[in-house]
Amino acid sequence: MNQKKRTKVLGDIHDKAVKYLTSVDDKSSYIEYRKNFELASDFKKTFDYPIHIDLEIDNVCNFACSFCPIGQPESELGKFYKTKHEIPKEKIFQLIDECKELGVNSIQFSIVNEPLANKDIFEILKYASSKKFDDIFIVSNGSLLNQNKAIKLLDTNIDKIQFSLDAFKEETFEKNRFTKIKKPGLYKKVKENIINFIKLRDKMGKKFPLVRVSFIELEENKDEIKDFENFWNDKVDGIHFQRLTDYKKKVINFDEVKDKVRCNMSNFRLSIKSDGNVRPCCVGYGEKILIGNIFNSSLKDIWDSKILKDFQKMHKEYRSYENKACKECLEHSHIY
Ligand SMILES: C[S@@+](CC[C@H](N)C(=O)[O-])C[C@H]1O[C@@H](n2cnc3c(N)ncnc32)[C@H](O)[C@@H]1O
Ligand code: SF4
Ligand code: SF4
Repeated sequence: MNQKKRTKVLGDIHDKAVKYLTSVDDKSSYIEYRKNFELASDFKKTFDYPIHIDLEIDNVCNFACSFCPIGQPESELGKFYKTKHEIPKEKIFQLIDECKELGVNSIQFSIVNEPLANKDIFEILKYASSKKFDDIFIVSNGSLLNQNKAIKLLDTNIDKIQFSLDAFKEETFEKNRFTKIKKPGLYKKVKENIINFIKLRDKMGKKFPLVRVSFIELEENKDEIKDFENFWNDKVDGIHFQRLTDYKKKVINFDEVKDKVRCNMSNFRLSIKSDGNVRPCCVGYGEKILIGNIFNSSLKDIWDSKILKDFQKMHKEYRSYENKACKECLEHSHIY
């Protein structure tokens, strides 16, 4: 059996993006970006800049999902979220400018946080969109997207938004995705927020942001996949299936597959955490790997650093197990 990708996508959201972009230059830039993204993620080419940046503007969330470090506050990874971290808005603007100069194509303004809980999010997204990247997007739990925020979000002109649901049945949603104080009717509200947001976008005659819903494949929701697809298929622009990183238990015997698994994350992206530390990926275990810090180095210097080049080479050569955190990550990820 070959290594699985960390995500599987239904409905080609990238074809839609190209179709809906109106300028010829924007279309060709997007096509080039996706081509480079695929080349870098297949280890076929290296680039002298990161194609994608994850920027965790803060580490705050109104949910405490069971499978996420925020929902596991006593765990080694969960501790980080017990103290608030936030990158100052001015520094975020500076980072956006730096990304533009470097040639970065896409920025996601979330890692482990709820972006719509941040008071400056709309200003930040608007600024980033005005700089004309190929892909500005957020991933959200959808719970805070009331009509007022929906209007503000549409005004930012971002390219995509992904809503994480991870369930079709209400009881599955409530078992895995919940707020710190239980809120009855939360699932219904999240679904309504997503559907109303799309209706509002369409009513305003906008094609963007494209909307994707996502589903982490878990033991307890695998029989809901078909219903999830059938329900969302004609409502959204894409459906994203994500493989679980199980922070609580090992899911592969690494010794049996160690020369066949590798991780492509660091080949195309950098992840900036809310304390300024730069990580090679957006996955929890990556929080144990330090590549640099934005408060004392430029993104270019971090991307060109020996530490990152050696790390990328290690993964390319199927030696991921040489890094303790990566070995642990691969042992806990459903990718084989
Ligand atoms: C950490 S959340 C941050 C954004 C937002 N709060 C949300 O939930 O959509 C980003 C994505 O990571 C996924 N995620 C969280 N924990 C995960 C895990 N252990 N394995 C795989 N994906 C995970 C979430 O479902 C979500 O789609
Ligand atoms: S909503 Fe997102 S960030 Fe918040 S706990 Fe759930 S997965 Fe984690
Ligand atoms: S921790 Fe290592 S193996 Fe896991 S996603 Fe990050 S870079 Fe890849």
